[in-house]
Amino acid sequence: MIAVLNFGGQTCHLIARRVRELGVYSEVLPFDVSPEKVMELKPDGIILSGGPSSVYEKDAPIIKKEILELGIPVLGICYGLQLIAKILGGNVEKGNLKEFGKKEITVEKNGLLLKGLNGLNKKEQVWMSHGDLVTSLPKDFDILASTDTCKYAAVESRKRNIFGIQFHAEVAHTLKGTQILRNFVFDVCKAKKDWDIKNISEKLVDEIKDEVKSDGVIMGVSGGVDSTVAATLLHKAIDGNLYCVFVDHGLIRKGEADEVRNFFENKLHFRHFYFIDASKIFLDRLKGITEPEQKRKIIGHTFIEVFEKKVEELSRKFKDIKFLGQGTIYPDRIESAQPNKNASKIKSHHNLTLPEKMNLKIIEPLKEFYKDEVRQLGKELQIPDEIIERHPFPGPGLAIRILGEVTDERLRILRDADFIFIEELKKSGQYKKIWQALAALLPVKSVGVMGDARTYEYIISLRAVTSLDAMTADWARIPYEILERISNRIINEVKGVNRVVYDISQKPPATIEYE
Ligand code: XMP
Repeated sequence: MIAVLNFGGQTCHLIARRVRELGVYSEVLPFDVSPEKVMELKPDGIILSGGPSSVYEKDAPIIKKEILELGIPVLGICYGLQLIAKILGGNVEKGNLKEFGKKEITVEKNGLLLKGLNGLNKKEQVWMSHGDLVTSLPKDFDILASTDTCKYAAVESRKRNIFGIQFHAEVAHTLKGTQILRNFVFDVCKAKKDWDIKNISEKLVDEIKDEVKSDGVIMGVSGGVDSTVAATLLHKAIDGNLYCVFVDHGLIRKGEADEVRNFFENKLHFRHFYFIDASKIFLDRLKGITEPEQKRKIIGHTFIEVFEKKVEELSRKFKDIKFLGQGTIYPDRIESAQPNKNASKIKSHHNLTLPEKMNLKIIEPLKEFYKDEVRQLGKELQIPDEIIERHPFPGPGLAIRILGEVTDERLRILRDADFIFIEELKKSGQYKKIWQALAALLPVKSVGVMGDARTYEYIISLRAVTSLDAMTADWARIPYEILERISNRIINEVKGVNRVVYDISQKPPATIEYE
């Protein structure tokens, strides 16, 4: 496995994903992981990610020098390279200009790291994003490539088994980036190619059997990809000892309650599937509440309360329930690996953890996987495409897409508009190209004219984004004709809307959801 130490760079996760795509398991660790912990994990190689800090800043994230002396090959990317240089006695300075975007490097020597790239004095396109520069190399390092402004764009020390690149090999704009990572992972680290999602479901099922034995597992499901795949794996492993609970908080999409119920009861034939219609409690508690964080908290707490009550009831009835299953996936766990532990809270945490007093052991069969891997697993398990390809849907549901107070009328309007939006995206083949699409209701009214009469109705904002992991997102370039059809249908078919807008903000600075 390859350990990726996270210095907070936007593309840190991408590094681990690229390595996994090469067929080698990779994990992201916090930058301050101890050398002992690293040794315990026995990685074949260590990659130091990029990050927003400067190595000479007072609180810059740094690593212990021992990490570079464990006898494990190290590759530093951007900030990672600068850190290596600083620790080993080189020098790093503020560059005269910040370089951001596509650049060309000139290869001066292929070495091990740039094997398979163009030869001597040939150019290669790479992607850079940095202000600081290494201005002198530590001892025993060779220059492999430079740019006109950056002398040490790729370096290696065969003696120390340490490598560095100032550009980002993990992004697609670095055209030979995969080759560079392949060189590091296989030629330098000699890692074995043994990570293949296709062969993993059987292993996961066996692991669940070993862990759970004849006990029971209770699990909340949402109808989304993660919890459905996790529940299906658990079901394969323990069959009738799985107890699934679906809490309808009244904030789900049109038709979804029936769809989910039908799927678990009639298609998957789960023996114990409990559908709880708790919409009244949720909607009562949300009355008059407009502040986004307060809305999230009410929904989160109420959800736990309803779920906990059901767990207690079922635990009394079925004494074997000892585990709580969760659909947690890898990026959900990674927040703890963020370098800046004081990072400002933007939205309360997405995945609610249930109180310890439940006294259940947690089982998370998907905790090592990225979303696209979960989807592949789901395909292996023959879960239908409608579920596997479903866009993410947030726990607090439509409540965070109705800005301000949630009312029955606003829910009805939003559900109908959202339904049309998604239906048209599916019909036109756009749905699969988009990471997530949603309609939001803006709680302001504007004037329009319909027939010969003046109207004064709500505005629906459509948002569709492309993304890799929801950490950053760009608005989807949906063709105008499709947007036109969607807008016309919503205004004509959904009573209470007379204006539709398309959201063209990127994340950051905007977020995907509205609250
Ligand atoms: P934001 O709005 O932060 O969303 O850009 C990033 C991704 O997370 C989803 N999201 C949530 N998922 N519970 C969830 O399960 C939540 O409270 C929640 N809030 C946001 C959002 O839909 C997007 O995919």
